[in-house]
Amino acid sequence: MCGIVGYIGHREAYPVIVKGLKRLEYRGYDSAGIALINHGMKLYKKKGKVADLEESIVGKDVQGHIGIGHTRWATHGEPSDRNAHPHLSNDGSLSMIHNGIIENYALIKQDLIKKGYTFSSDTDTEVLLNFIQDIKQNNNSTLEEALRVALKRIVGAYCILLIDQNDPDTIIAARKGSPLVIGIGKGEHFLASDATPIIEYTKEVVYVNDYEIAIVKADEIILKNLGNEKQTPFITKLDMELATIEKGGYDHFMLKEIYEQPDTIFDCLRGRLLTHSGEIRMAGIDNNLETLCNAQRIVIVACGTSWHAGLIAEYIFEELCRIPVEVEYASEFRYRNPVINEGDVIIAISQSGETADTLVALESAKEKGAFIFGVVNAVGSSIARISHAGAYTHAGPEIGVASTKAFTGQLAVLTMMALKIAQAKGTITHERYSLLMKELEAIPEKVKEILADTSHIKAIAEKYKDAPDALFLGRGFNFPVALEGALKLKEISYIHAEGYPAAEMKHGPIALVTEELPVVFVATKDSYYEKIVSNVQEIKARKGMVIAVATNGDTVIPGMANDTMFVPDADELVAPLLSTIPLQLLSYYVGVAKGYNVDMPRNLAKSVTVE
Ligand code: M6R
Repeated sequence: MCGIVGYIGHREAYPVIVKGLKRLEYRGYDSAGIALINHGMKLYKKKGKVADLEESIVGKDVQGHIGIGHTRWATHGEPSDRNAHPHLSNDGSLSMIHNGIIENYALIKQDLIKKGYTFSSDTDTEVLLNFIQDIKQNNNSTLEEALRVALKRIVGAYCILLIDQNDPDTIIAARKGSPLVIGIGKGEHFLASDATPIIEYTKEVVYVNDYEIAIVKADEIILKNLGNEKQTPFITKLDMELATIEKGGYDHFMLKEIYEQPDTIFDCLRGRLLTHSGEIRMAGIDNNLETLCNAQRIVIVACGTSWHAGLIAEYIFEELCRIPVEVEYASEFRYRNPVINEGDVIIAISQSGETADTLVALESAKEKGAFIFGVVNAVGSSIARISHAGAYTHAGPEIGVASTKAFTGQLAVLTMMALKIAQAKGTITHERYSLLMKELEAIPEKVKEILADTSHIKAIAEKYKDAPDALFLGRGFNFPVALEGALKLKEISYIHAEGYPAAEMKHGPIALVTEELPVVFVATKDSYYEKIVSNVQEIKARKGMVIAVATNGDTVIPGMANDTMFVPDADELVAPLLSTIPLQLLSYYVGVAKGYNVDMPRNLAKSVTVE
């Protein structure tokens, strides 16, 4: 979490940084700040959004060709002006922004206090900054050397940008565990947590690696490791257009991203799902087919929505490939010393590719010899780079905090992957394989059909928006869809929502059912259909209010439900790609009806880079 931006070059730094921070606001939005050097250090910080910062600066001196800016997701210390970044060193010469957590900051702070240092914030960042200043003074060293010494002594994750008012021609950056991209312009450089603040200026970027320090001037970048050895910067060309990170006429990024799904799913399948020749081409799988086919077990590691995609993949892989699958919350997997055997394949699923829990879980699995396959959306991200192989979801930048198009992209990739492995292993018949390819190919058009008219979903949202709680139920492939529907509603509308396998209701949760409780059933026509019809009846018998996701043409479920959202018919294996869409829209419209900021829900951040 937290977004960082830096600029050095011939332009005025302030507008570049403010614009960049707005693009990165999805990473954290409880406070923001900027430091500029222009005849001394100028520091501006404000609780709230970047727009609040901007407003507070009107009329102040914002000139300068070098600067750093930060938008925060609080870890140490409440959101406030004083805890906002950048921070200033005790001697007033250095300013720093930081994304990550310094775990041993308390001990370092105690030592610094004994030496007479004072702190104006509760942050770990200010501690690290003064630690650097202290080393610089005591060792009479350069800032770069002091930083290197400090980084070797801290525990935790960081991406930092550091400026010194006595050296207005340099930004020093370092990363471990939190992302950093440097954009290369003509006589100028842009630094940021991801490429979105950079792409309108240049498409040439360098991704800084963990344990690297970058000394960035207007006309050069020197990369070094912590051992002070020079590293060769690897220049990559960005494959991203500005339009993909703008709202393009939609009220919110979330709505835009929901509506983009026919295209993003199509893009994900394009060039891979070749129905005419019966082939699925995915280089990451082709090159590792033996390893994947011989897997004794697949362990899927992910968080949040990506974990739900993993649950659906569990059903698909077990059904098609006959390989045992376990789906793990990355945070739990990492800390419980999991058993990893030779022949295990780990599939990591992540939109951002930067989720700290997932990243750390992968690092430890990799150390134990596991083969890591990444299903990632953000190109060049840390998880993509740590994986032995992988497949991108190609959904384009996802800005809304609630994951929507990335989720359907993940499902599309995982389904193709399972089909390909099943075909190679011979665990699927030719007929079923061909049918599922066609079913998958038809998904973008069917999603378009759902999106063609959403007025009834909006009306349902208006009707139920004041409910304090909601239950989401499904069976089989649609059970994880119910979990995902509940998560979406929770994060966007702040309504307490629980997802359950529909059959589990009778083991406890049915006690919650009253005339006031909306119960959302994901009840499309599949092999569980008869069973879920019974489950709906059980709720109706207790006077619960049923909102159903049902298949076009079905009359039984709509006949029992209070309200129905229809989706086109599809094979049950690919049906989650459709049944999830009305649930995304339902939570979107409830959130909007309640007047909430659906793109930036309270307490959340898009890229969760703390463990
Ligand atoms: O970037 P990732 O897919 O690794 O993120 C995982 C979760 O943080 C993410 O899916 C989160 O749950 C979303 N807010 C859900 O909408």
